[in-house]
Amino acid sequence: MNIFEGLQAAVNVHPLFVHFPIALLMIAGVLFIVCYFMDLPELRAAAKWNLILGSLSAIAAAVTGFIAANSLPHNQEIHEAMLMHRNIMVPATLLSLALGGCLFFKKDLSLIHKQKVFLAGLILILGLLAVGADYGGKMVFKYGAGTELFKKLNAEEGVGHKHVD
Ligand code: HEM
Repeated sequence: MNIFEGLQAAVNVHPLFVHFPIALLMIAGVLFIVCYFMDLPELRAAAKWNLILGSLSAIAAAVTGFIAANSLPHNQEIHEAMLMHRNIMVPATLLSLALGGCLFFKKDLSLIHKQKVFLAGLILILGLLAVGADYGGKMVFKYGAGTELFKKLNAEEGVGHKHVD
């Protein structure tokens, strides 16, 4: 029996990292929204660590994303979706690091999480992640980026387009 056949077919490791920031940052956002309206210290602590871990995992996703973008064979349609994906995910990563950093270095969490600018930043991250991930999905599920089928078509039709910019 051949295990990890899916992993062996992957053309890069970006898909292994992308779901951590999406899940952790989205959970952080939802929990902080709940904590804005209710005084729940334990939930606030959970939200804080989801945000910090989510922002760290976003670094790994972004780094592997750049590696993927520079090595993945792609056509013009994938190229355009990739640029949009990058242009959304880089600010989402930086913003999550800024908010995660605030929480990590500032001891009194109760002062930060009630601020409207903090909540607005979180909601912005959620929006960016949703739209940016959709561009990622578009590359893979609509245009077949990184799949065996795309490689086959690419070889047959020569739709090559190998750089990012
Ligand atoms: C927080 C940062 C990022 C997240 C959460 C993220 C998320 C995703 C998602 C959800 C997909 C769809 C495929 C799948 O579900 O596995 C994807 C694909 C892709 N992303 Fe990202 N991405 C991030 C950053 C980047 C950056 C900075 C680039 C650079 C251009 C990039 C390049 C790509 C490429 C080339 C694909 C196509 C599939 C592949 O080669 O793995 N990503 N990304």
